Amino acid sequence: GADNYLSKPVNPSELQALVKALLQRVLVASESAMKQKARTLAVYSLRGGSGVSTIAVNLGVGLAQLWGDQTTVVDLALTNGQSALMLDLTLRNTWADLGPIPPAEIDADMLDIVLQPHASKVRVLAAPPRPELHELITGEKISRVLSLLRESSAYIVIDMPHDFSEQTLAGLDAADQIVLVVSPEMAAVRAASSALKVFASLQYPPEKMMLALNWTFERNGLARKDIEASLGQSFNLIMPFAPDPFVTAINTGIPPVMSAPKSPLGALFEDFAFMLSSAEHRATRPAQPTPAWHRVAQRIQQRSAKSR
Ligand SMILES: Nc1ncnc2c1ncn2[C@@H]1O[C@H](COP(=O)(O)OP(=O)(O)OP(=O)(O)O)[C@@H](O)[C@H]1O
Ligand SMILES: [Mg+2]
Repeated sequence: GADNYLSKPVNPSELQALVKALLQRVLVASESAMKQKARTLAVYSLRGGSGVSTIAVNLGVGLAQLWGDQTTVVDLALTNGQSALMLDLTLRNTWADLGPIPPAEIDADMLDIVLQPHASKVRVLAAPPRPELHELITGEKISRVLSLLRESSAYIVIDMPHDFSEQTLAGLDAADQIVLVVSPEMAAVRAASSALKVFASLQYPPEKMMLALNWTFERNGLARKDIEASLGQSFNLIMPFAPDPFVTAINTGIPPVMSAPKSPLGALFEDFAFMLSSAEHRATRPAQPTPAWHRVAQRIQQRSAKSR
C-alpha cells in the first residue's frame, strides 16, 4: 500500500520534497472529504403533536426536489415514528434491523440495505415496527449511523422525539441546525423555552437554532410577537393552519411539497428547504437546475422586485 519510495542512498532534500508532496495530497483529500459531509438538520419540539414529523418529511423531500442529491430522512421517534408512513413506505427495513448489531460493526453497506428508497430520491431510516425495539438503539449506535450517513448523503433530516433522552441527544449533537417547532399555545411556548434553556446549557451556539411557528389549530393562538418576545428569538418559518392538505398527505402517503409543489404550502416548504440548504448550494446556480430550484429562484426574484 505504499504511495512512493526512494532508494538508498537517500538525498535529504529529495526526501523532504517527497514527504511535502504526500502531505499535500492527504490534506487535499481530507478537505474534499470534509466538503462532502452531509448537512444535518434536526426537527424538534419538546411537546408532541406540534408538527415535527410533518415538517421533517416535507423538508427532506423539498431538499431532494431542489438539489436532486441524496437526502436521508432519519426517524429518531423510535417508539412510534411515522416518517415511513408519511412517505407510503413499509416497515420492512427499519432501525430494528440494526438492533442486534454492535455500533462498531455497522458499516455503509449495511445502511444501504436498511435505508428505504423513496420516489423523491429521499432515503428513509424508519422507526422500528414495535415500540419495545427502541431499547436496542443506543445513543452510541445513533451517533455511529449518523456519522456514516454524513459520508454518503448531501442532507440528513432527523424527525426527533419529544424528550431529552440519550438517543435524542445523539441526534441533537450531530445536527448542524435544529429547527425548534412551536405551536401558538402556552404549553408549547413553555416547552420551547425549556428546550432553548437546555440547548444553552449544552453550549449549542445560538445560530444552531431556527424557530418555526406552526399553526396546528385555527384560531385564538398567542400572538407571534409575544411568543418571539418570550423566546427571545424571531421565527424563521411560519406555517399556516392547513388541515385538508395534511390529512390528505397522511392518508395518501404523499407530502404536500411533492403532491402540490406549486401550491402555497408546497412553495413554503421549498423555500424553507432552500433557506436551510448549504451555503455552497445557495450561492451557485446548479449546472442542471431542477424545476424546484427554478421555482425558488423565481420567488426570490419576485420578492426582491417587490421590496425595491
Ligand atoms: N399547519 C398545520 N395545519 C393543520 N394540521 C397540522 C399542521 N401541522 C401539523 N398538523 C397535523 O397535526 C398532527 C401532528 O403533526 P405531526 O405528526 O407532524 O407532529 P409531531 O410533532 O411529529 O407529533 P408526534 O407527537 O406524533 O410526534 C398531524 O395530524 C398533522 O397532520
Ligand atoms: Mg412525530
